[in-house]
Amino acid sequence: MHPVIIAISVLWLTLPALLPNSAAVIFGGGAPVDMGRSWGGSRLLGDGKTWTGLMGGTLSGLLLGMMLYLIATLLGLGEPWDFGGFPDCLVPMFSLALGSLLGDIGGSFLKRRIGLARGAKAPVLDQYDFLIGAYGLTLLTSTSWFMDHLVNGGAIYGLLFVVILTPLLHRLVNVLGYKMGAKDVPW
Ligand code: CTP
Ligand code: MG
Repeated sequence: MHPVIIAISVLWLTLPALLPNSAAVIFGGGAPVDMGRSWGGSRLLGDGKTWTGLMGGTLSGLLLGMMLYLIATLLGLGEPWDFGGFPDCLVPMFSLALGSLLGDIGGSFLKRRIGLARGAKAPVLDQYDFLIGAYGLTLLTSTSWFMDHLVNGGAIYGLLFVVILTPLLHRLVNVLGYKMGAKDVPW
């Protein structure tokens, strides 16, 4: 398969992991996940991690995955754009979406432990926590799906492409979100 097809198809399959963080900005604003609790003098997670953001973001990612599945099915795209049979494909889709927000929560947990305030910049961590969470949870819940779609048959090069592209996408989306007034800071 052509390297460009591999790269774009792995990005396509990863999209349910890329949307939730942006969607969480829109759904956020409710009660914080840590319920205001602190640990060692700092908030456990902070006010930037809310239940509505977590749930709205996860459902958005799952919904996007289902839309991509429908598009691929209606257009008869087949491999490598195929998420797999329905309803089995819902497991990796859900894992990508939920995992990305759990990774983001893990990132905030670490930021608070090293004394960084909510919204403070944490290079590398901010750009990769969600991707590590998304791929990590999917590897756990859907090991064969992960290997077949994101590793085997050269797909690993697509995965590397997504890893390299992610900080750029993250930056782009956050600058856009900032300019649109959805985010307080452009990172
Ligand atoms: N958000 C949310 N719930 C989540 C994740 C994000 O409500 N589980 C919303 C919050 O309004 C948050 C915004 O999305 O402020 C941006 O997310 P992020 O940059 O991850 O949070 P920060 O506010 O920067 O906080 P932190 O320093 O903990 O990353
Ligand atoms: Mg932030």
